[in-house]
Amino acid sequence: MKFAIAGAGYIAAIHAQAVQNCGAQVAAVVEKYSDKSAAFASQFGISRQYTTVEELLKDGGADALVIGTPNFLHAPQTLAALNAGIPVLVEKPMAMNAVEAGKMLSASHKSGTTLMVAHCWRFDQDVLWLKSQLHRIGRVLRTKGYGVHTHWGPAGWFTQKKLAGGGAMVDMGIHALDTARFLLGDPQPVSVYARIGTFYKDFDVDDTGVIIVNWDNGAVSYIESGWWQPHSDGAEAATQLYGQQGFAQLFPTLLELPDPGKNQVKTVKSGFKQ
Ligand SMILES: NC(=O)c1ccc[n+]([C@@H]2O[C@H](COP(=O)([O-])OP(=O)(O)OC[C@H]3O[C@@H](n4cnc5c(N)ncnc54)[C@H](O)[C@@H]3O)[C@@H](O)[C@H]2O)c1
Repeated sequence: MKFAIAGAGYIAAIHAQAVQNCGAQVAAVVEKYSDKSAAFASQFGISRQYTTVEELLKDGGADALVIGTPNFLHAPQTLAALNAGIPVLVEKPMAMNAVEAGKMLSASHKSGTTLMVAHCWRFDQDVLWLKSQLHRIGRVLRTKGYGVHTHWGPAGWFTQKKLAGGGAMVDMGIHALDTARFLLGDPQPVSVYARIGTFYKDFDVDDTGVIIVNWDNGAVSYIESGWWQPHSDGAEAATQLYGQQGFAQLFPTLLELPDPGKNQVKTVKSGFKQ
């Protein structure tokens, strides 16, 4: 397969490496700045460079597009590719808002072209192990998770509402939210309580947030998001699940199950290196 990658920044390089690791080819890069484009093309042996997705589509020669650009470009770049019948993997957050996301979904359905959002924790070995073990803790009643950066946060376009759509919630909280939803079996939200604010730096997006989601399977998820936080309970995207028959968590990844014979709790670890 020949992939095109939009953006030549941090995440684009990870996608380009992943494409090559799978034995596929990065055939083209779409990047606004020529110096970044040239360096990226040279690093990954890419022969074609474009400044817009439209130019790429006009030339053809890409079987799929990976979008790793600032958030305000996710919807227009995705729509252009899907309408041309090119499958898209778009980075999170999917879009600036739900209206844009709805249009992307409709374009995918209408064109019969695959649209996937890069919620990468769904493919993490610890997450997959935990999901395979969850039946052991019985019905999951609640989850608790967070996506936070402690003592740092991003700068540049990430902190501008018109370019990013939102702050720590769409940047970090979304990982914890999607991971909880994945582990719960992708239920739909019934109601959401959310409170976000900006307290640590001077920008117009959130750096602190709490959300509570009531899911249609009866479970409830509590999610924290943040940049520049003074503390985190553990690694990014960590999630805990409280079941009727036990407890499960990511990072460190383990189960705590009652051991009735010994009248105590036994711990089962994933065994993966953290
Ligand atoms: N899934 C994950 O774990 C993960 C991790 C990091 C970033 N991301 C997401 O990836 C996206 C990019 O983040 P990043 O950290 O790589 O940002 P970045 O700033 O490093 O890279 C963005 C690139 O897009 C380029 N760009 C800007 N305007 C453009 C335009 N009009 N056309 C083409 N290219 C343009 C920039 O010059 C830059 O090279 C964001 O949506 C972010 O949320 C996801």
